[in-house]
Amino acid sequence: MKSLLVLFSYHHNNTEKIAKVFAKVLDAQIKTPQQIDPEGLQEHSLIGFGSGIYGGEHHKVLLDLADKLPRVTNRKAFIFSTCGAPMKFMELDRAEFTRYVAENHSPLREKLQSKGYMIVDEFSCTAFNTNSILKLFGGINKGRPNAEDLKHAEEFAQNLKQNL
Ligand SMILES: Cc1cc2nc3c(=O)[nH]c(=O)nc-3n(C[C@H](O)[C@H](O)[C@H](O)COP(=O)(O)O)c2cc1C
Repeated sequence: MKSLLVLFSYHHNNTEKIAKVFAKVLDAQIKTPQQIDPEGLQEHSLIGFGSGIYGGEHHKVLLDLADKLPRVTNRKAFIFSTCGAPMKFMELDRAEFTRYVAENHSPLREKLQSKGYMIVDEFSCTAFNTNSILKLFGGINKGRPNAEDLKHAEEFAQNLKQNL
């Protein structure tokens, strides 16, 4: 199984920390959207697409790449992200967080599905966020992703590996 991770991570390299765990378990290469030839993705049987969440969706460069992808059949993909959920979301329980993530992932999910990708699973975790005025207070979710988040990422990837 040849796997690839398409990653855009810049704010605090939070999503990169998660992607590195996935890469190790899945023995996958990590590439940025800019390094991807949209026509050249055919050779991969599993592709993970991930970035931080910006304005309620994945980063524009990833969404733009999804727009450029050719149609495929029977290709498996998964979606991942890290999000610096604002304060009011800090108290979310697991089900509410899952709903929040599902909403943030939906623009990318819909684009990939419209190209024929089968989304086999999705992962997200809370991460360090110093966007805008948050930096005046030292940011939120400092230290995340933490060891437990990375453990969850490893379990997620192991599960993907077993079920594919
Ligand atoms: C410009 C900007 C906009 C953001 N918008 C959101 C958002 O809408 N929702 C959210 O949960 N986090 C938001 N965040 C926080 C990032 O998603 C979070 O810090 C993420 O871990 C960054 O990933 P990265 O370090 O891999 O780039 C935003 C951060 C920035 C810098």
